[in-house]
Amino acid sequence: MLTPVILAGGNGTRLWPLSRQQRPKQFLALAGETSLFQQTLARLEELDTASPIVVGHHDHRFLIAEQLREQGIEGATLLLEPEGRNTAPAIAVAALVACANGDDPLLLVLPADHLIRDGEALCASIVRGEALAEQGRLVTFGVVPTHAETGYGYLQRGEPLGKDGYRVRRFVEKPDADMARTYCDSGEFLWNSGMFMFHASRYLEELERLQPTMLSACRAAVAGVRADLDFLRLDAEALLACPANSIDYAVMEATDDAAMVTLEAGWSDVGSWSTLWEHQTRDAQGNACHGDVLVEDTRDSLIHADSRLVAALGVEELIIVETRDALLVAGRERVQELKRVVERLQTAG
Ligand code: GDD
Ligand code: MG
Repeated sequence: MLTPVILAGGNGTRLWPLSRQQRPKQFLALAGETSLFQQTLARLEELDTASPIVVGHHDHRFLIAEQLREQGIEGATLLLEPEGRNTAPAIAVAALVACANGDDPLLLVLPADHLIRDGEALCASIVRGEALAEQGRLVTFGVVPTHAETGYGYLQRGEPLGKDGYRVRRFVEKPDADMARTYCDSGEFLWNSGMFMFHASRYLEELERLQPTMLSACRAAVAGVRADLDFLRLDAEALLACPANSIDYAVMEATDDAAMVTLEAGWSDVGSWSTLWEHQTRDAQGNACHGDVLVEDTRDSLIHADSRLVAALGVEELIIVETRDALLVAGRERVQELKRVVERLQTAG
């Protein structure tokens, strides 16, 4: 049976001012009635899975618990990090906990902040991936690229592995713009969707070989785990001493055993306001509006009003996001640079 591992510890700075340190994007209802985290959990209902392991930041523990409860999920394992060390350690601690009773489940690693339109197609890809993961491969889910995005990993398709998928010839994480263009034009590369599937022991084996220091720090963090209410707090000292790195750089770029299945499920990473605009329902003028919004002669914009009426007149390709204490007005094509604004806010205290 699959054990879902939900990665819920990111901070989503590119969706400021809606996404905040205390309530990052995965816990917001950005598209639909429930949060992205809850939608991730809901998609699993169609599959036969064990209770999920959720790995998240200590500060978000009550948000996580409340959203699980709203979703009717009981028995989840909640692993808390005092500070994130990126995805490779987050998955490692989940894998170690999953193996604690001598088990070795298949882990389905899911980011908590993606939008997937077609749940059925996702489940079909997961089922195909299971066959490859059972053979000891590290399975990725490849999405046909639509543009030369530099914020994603790229998977080069290798030879077929039965009827279920392909070997990954090369995994390149976040290439520069020129390489991303070359990969897109080649037709041989797919985007890495950021979901993974493998046996817990297989991931730990690769980590042992490629990142032994990281693995021993994660072992220590799990050995020193402390139960607190319904949560498991990882040992802070051990985890803080762990090198920070993503699974993509730390393991997937280096392993010889990566495989991929294709994913055609209307996947989006909702990484920025412009991707959110792309994936939302828009009016005839191309505007995606949320809340108390009035538009006149306005095109191709995303306008979000939280606490006041927002009116726009004679503008185009803007992102306008109003919240109680902050207002963002940005060119739609410039929102990737929002990280810089947030960094300035953080240094200003
Ligand atoms: N628990 C925990 N701890 N979760 C984390 C941490 C951490 O330290 N860091 C990130 N996460 C969570 C995020 O909340 C997100 O759900 C997921 O892990 C992936 O992290 P991102 O930081 O969003 O990664 P990315 O988007 O830059 O890149 C990954 O996803 C792309 C697709 O969206 C890579 O896998 C790329 O190859 C991929 O293309
Ligand atoms: Mg992401």
